[in-house]
Amino acid sequence: MKKITVSTLTLFIISLFSFSTILAQDTHTFVGVKKCGMCHKKDKIGNQLKIWKNSEHAKAYITLKTPEADKIATEKGFKTKAAETPECLTCHITSYNVEASMLGSKFKIEDGIQCESCHGAGSDYKKKKIMKNHAKAVANGLTEYKDNAAIKAQCLTCHNDKSPTYKDFDFNKRWAEIAHPVPTK
Ligand code: HEC
Ligand code: HEC
Ligand code: HEC
Ligand code: HEC
Repeated sequence: MKKITVSTLTLFIISLFSFSTILAQDTHTFVGVKKCGMCHKKDKIGNQLKIWKNSEHAKAYITLKTPEADKIATEKGFKTKAAETPECLTCHITSYNVEASMLGSKFKIEDGIQCESCHGAGSDYKKKKIMKNHAKAVANGLTEYKDNAAIKAQCLTCHNDKSPTYKDFDFNKRWAEIAHPVPTK
């Protein structure tokens, strides 16, 4: 009898532990480009904020508010405005299908395809000490790209023929247009 109780308790503790691990992995929240930009606007680090602001990704949601976008939505048979149509939002905002509780107070849908669309929700890796340590950053939610093929695969999740305006996607050319490296000293 006693033996059963102990092992049951052990099992219970183990399951509690793994459950909280799963929870911890799932609770990274989206902090928004403004937070990332606090550090990533310095020239020394490569001013990724400015490169992003000058890219079409920053305007991806605003684009859906245009008459051209509404026209495309109507032609596709949607009854809602483009900016209210899930089938458009899926590629034009960062937080599509994400619960409101996962969005930080500074997160703005209007900022379109933000840093965290490609780098992962940043609440747990954005601290300077963690950011400077690649392995720790990845353990805290930063998306890791092994090589150019992995980067290309990420681009193709949106740059594909499900986009009503898709023509082609020349990865090397397009990636060069938005690349934002940290300068090597
Ligand atoms: C407190 C300052 C700070 C904030 C906030 C911050 N970063 Fe960083 N980030 C850094 C520093 C410092 C580095 C290291 C740069 C270097 O290589 O010298 C870095 C590195 C990175 C890297 C490369 C890391 C690697 O290991 O490959 C990415 C990607 C990145 N940041 C994205 C983001 C995103 C996205 C956000 C917002 C969610 C963000 N950062 C918020 C300071 C910050
Ligand atoms: C599969 C992802 C995806 C979906 C779904 C999507 N878009 Fe886009 N959209 C893109 C991408 C990527 C671009 C950049 C140009 C391109 O390659 O099509 C874009 C560009 C646009 C542009 C700018 C076109 C230009 O030539 O500058 C408009 C307007 C637009 N989309 C409207 C819509 C509307 C309206 C919907 C919903 C009916 C929609 N999109 C659904 C990915 C998508
Ligand atoms: C469309 C996708 C996309 C967006 C949007 C984006 N990045 Fe990146 N970023 C990448 C990819 C892909 C890499 C290269 C692989 C890597 O280093 O993780 C990269 C690399 C980086 C690096 C490391 C560069 C190096 O030399 O090691 C930093 C820092 C960074 N991004 C910060 C940002 C910040 C800050 C924002 C928003 C202002 C942002 N990124 C927006 C896809 C994106
Ligand atoms: C989450 C969806 C998404 C991902 C992932 C994404 N993009 Fe985009 N991208 C868009 C949308 C939407 C637009 C059009 C924005 C607009 O015109 O308002 C766009 C526009 C662009 C443009 C401007 C030129 C054009 O075709 O209109 C370039 C360049 C670009 N993306 C490169 C990349 C690269 C390189 C990657 C991968 C590292 C990438 N994108 C990943 C959604 C995405």
